[in-house]
Amino acid sequence: MEGLRSEILLSESDISGKVEELARRVTEDYDGKEVLLIGILRGAFVVLSDLMRKVELSCGVAFMEVSSYGAGTTSSGIVRILKDIEEDISDKHVIVVEDIIDTGITLSYLRRSLLARKPESLEFLTLLSKPSRRRVELDVKYIGFEIPDEFVVGYGIDYAGKYRNLPEIYALEENHE
Ligand code: IMP
Ligand code: MG
Repeated sequence: MEGLRSEILLSESDISGKVEELARRVTEDYDGKEVLLIGILRGAFVVLSDLMRKVELSCGVAFMEVSSYGAGTTSSGIVRILKDIEEDISDKHVIVVEDIIDTGITLSYLRRSLLARKPESLEFLTLLSKPSRRRVELDVKYIGFEIPDEFVVGYGIDYAGKYRNLPEIYALEENHE
């Protein structure tokens, strides 16, 4: 990657193998049910699009956009819903799909917001999780990879709006705080 020192953390085949495994678990766990996958924009759109094509269920898709970060690499701790879903989820089995969970603040906020709408069920799926960074407790049913406390980019995940198009996931070696 031009201008940034980085190393490959997860290859394309690491990622696709894990996404298949997650999709298989979802397919088994929700057998016979209708599922609504809610992707959190923007980062989760890549994993969501790969995941939903491997899930063998009747499933809908929707998006929310939230913002908890500025242009830097640390969470502001403030979550704003920039775009909400339009559908009524009161009779739906909802799975929120995230690219990465860091402090957990974003998803715990979303959890409260979505539970208030009384879905039939609500679970979380994330491709990556940084357990050492967690600041709030959060029950996440589907976790792809647990990774160390490093800032990562690629496969939908950005640094200041860039690098989402990389097919692999890279860890930035420099400190960009
Ligand atoms: P949390 O609220 O601290 O859990 O942060 C979740 C959001 O922060 C994710 O959806 C990402 O958009 C962003 N984020 C957390 N860690 C990273 C990272 O290593 N690289 C890029 N974005 C990150
Ligand atoms: Mg995100």
